[in-house]
Amino acid sequence: MVAAALLVVVVATALVVYTGIYNVAADAPHTQPVFWLMTTVRERSIAVRAADIVVPGDLADSKRVASGAAQYAEMCSSCHLAPDMKRTEISRGLYPRAPELRRGSRLTAAEEFWVVKHGLKMSGMPAWGVTHDDELLWSVVAFLRKLPELTADQYQQLVKSAPKTHDEMMQEMDEGHDGQPHQ
Ligand code: HEC
Repeated sequence: MVAAALLVVVVATALVVYTGIYNVAADAPHTQPVFWLMTTVRERSIAVRAADIVVPGDLADSKRVASGAAQYAEMCSSCHLAPDMKRTEISRGLYPRAPELRRGSRLTAAEEFWVVKHGLKMSGMPAWGVTHDDELLWSVVAFLRKLPELTADQYQQLVKSAPKTHDEMMQEMDEGHDGQPHQ
């Protein structure tokens, strides 16, 4: 009985997979069950993996926030947009959509850090930890926590007031934060 039920499940799964019946096009939304499955898998995966991440105590530090603003403008706004920014071609074509982070997120700071560092499979959200160190990524998270409160003017001011541009941060990272080159 159990074996027969199992066989039905295996055959049904193989049919869905090999007939090509499921549409993977980014301009055709997921069916409700698949959407639910993907969302739940993502949320649980992030929550479990972020559980042990220790959030730096100085996340609200204004220099950190300003620094994160410059990184965000450079690295994230093309997909996640910014206050008063029109939707970009990339953001219009992405599926799943990149949430507009100025509207806030239900994620904790630790969860945001995990997502930014490791990215999200099959979504277009890159793993920024491949090319950026934790110090830089925490600045981005520090900024994300402030972003929902900002007007367009405040956002522009913050980006301009950043102690370092993205390129300067990258150069500093390559040299090591202690001024020593990485091995
Ligand atoms: C090429 C487009 C792209 C870029 C660039 C990008 N993201 Fe994303 N990001 C996405 C997409 C798409 C999702 C949604 C993934 C999903 O729903 O499975 C996402 C999801 C996220 C989430 C999870 C939001 C939530 O509430 O679940 C966070 C946080 C995030 N991105 C932050 C960033 C930050 C910070 C940067 C810049 C360092 C960045 N992203 C750059 C496409 C992008």
